[in-house]
Amino acid sequence: SPCGPIVHGLEDVLIKNTTISDIDGEKGILWYRGYRIEDLAKFSNYEEVSFLVLYGRLPTRSELKEYERRLKSSRDLHPATVEVIRALAKAHPMFALEAAVAAEGAYDEDNQKLIEALRVGRYKAEEKELAYRIAEKLIAKLPTMVAYHYRFSKGLELVRPRDDLSHAANFLYMMFGKEPDPLAAKGIDLYLILHADHEVPASTFTAHVVVSTLSDLYSSVAAAIAALKGPLHGGANEMAVRNYLEIGDPSKAKELVEAATKPGGPKLMGVGHRVYKAYDPRARIFKEFSRDYVAKFGDPKNLFAVASAIEHEVLNNPYFQQRKLYPNVDFWSGIAFYYMGVPYEYFTPIFAVSRVVGWVAHILEYWENNRIFRPRACYAGPHDLQYIPIDQR
Ligand code: CMC
Repeated sequence: SPCGPIVHGLEDVLIKNTTISDIDGEKGILWYRGYRIEDLAKFSNYEEVSFLVLYGRLPTRSELKEYERRLKSSRDLHPATVEVIRALAKAHPMFALEAAVAAEGAYDEDNQKLIEALRVGRYKAEEKELAYRIAEKLIAKLPTMVAYHYRFSKGLELVRPRDDLSHAANFLYMMFGKEPDPLAAKGIDLYLILHADHEVPASTFTAHVVVSTLSDLYSSVAAAIAALKGPLHGGANEMAVRNYLEIGDPSKAKELVEAATKPGGPKLMGVGHRVYKAYDPRARIFKEFSRDYVAKFGDPKNLFAVASAIEHEVLNNPYFQQRKLYPNVDFWSGIAFYYMGVPYEYFTPIFAVSRVVGWVAHILEYWENNRIFRPRACYAGPHDLQYIPIDQR
């Protein structure tokens, strides 16, 4: 087998050209389709940003209206999907989301049509249109899946999606059964904007690997959700807030931060990044929002105070300074969610609700020039061993 230098964790390996998002890790800048996220966070909303990420340009007013109409008309789930979510009501919602996406794909007729076309090697204008329709359906349905899981887990009646509410406001409405406070809806919208895409992290790469075999979009998104779930990736937002809750007091921040500097110690959740060697620009925006949120609603569990104390320790600790480790997007993002009444198990599912657009945009970009992913491993074991029958071993 071939042996040579191994790129551990595929650091800095390029897998394709892309026009979807770009990161300047040294300066801490993120662009979607050429637009700075600071501008999108200030002037746009998730509907517009998801159109931008998926279609590569900002929509006109009528395009946006039509896109919103299509999303709204696709929010409902197949009855089999609802049953899958119900059956997993007591499981962590990331397991339920993985299963729900696979279930929805199993019964979506457009998906079956596309699978049949791909089987005979056909991916032309008609199939591309189908693929974009499926992409939009995934964007529309993930919030319903997450909210339904929450309702089942609490033994509550399901709340059907409401057509007159925005993507973010409708999500909170389906979770809690009442129209959300405008600042809470804004917080969810901001979170969705800031997580829409991030080049090719583990989940997006996973999505590429799956579709490169000409498997379907739903299966690819289910696999991406599986990759997102881990604490080194999207699961960090849940873990960060759990740390803040456990500590409860800013005076204990130093202890937690120091434990993370010891060899073999636990990683500090919400800190560090493969690409950013500067403050994560998404974290900066979310810190401001969290500050505004607790200014309005208070910080009864000390989450903002504890996170601020941890950040102060991190920024002044030589271990983190030498390694250029800064707070990442997951550091601040869960605080407002927690105070909105969203249990921390739902933080990573909401990440998926946003990132689904990045996943599908990347998949469709890759299909324009598809080749199966098939890397190699350098074999380091013995060869030609003599087989010994079991009763002689
Ligand atoms: N706490 C303590 N030490 C850390 C941390 C951390 N959070 N992150 C990195 N390091 C250390 C690491 O131990 C290594 O030290 P040494 O050089 O002495 O061996 C050095 O910094 C370089 O880290 P690495 O493990 O080679 O970095 P990586 O690029 O493989 O991993 C990471 C990146 C994000 C997985 C990692 O920083 C980490 O585990 N962070 C905590 C989990 C987290 O917040 N994940 C969210 C990432 S951002 C959004 C998302 O993907 O969802």
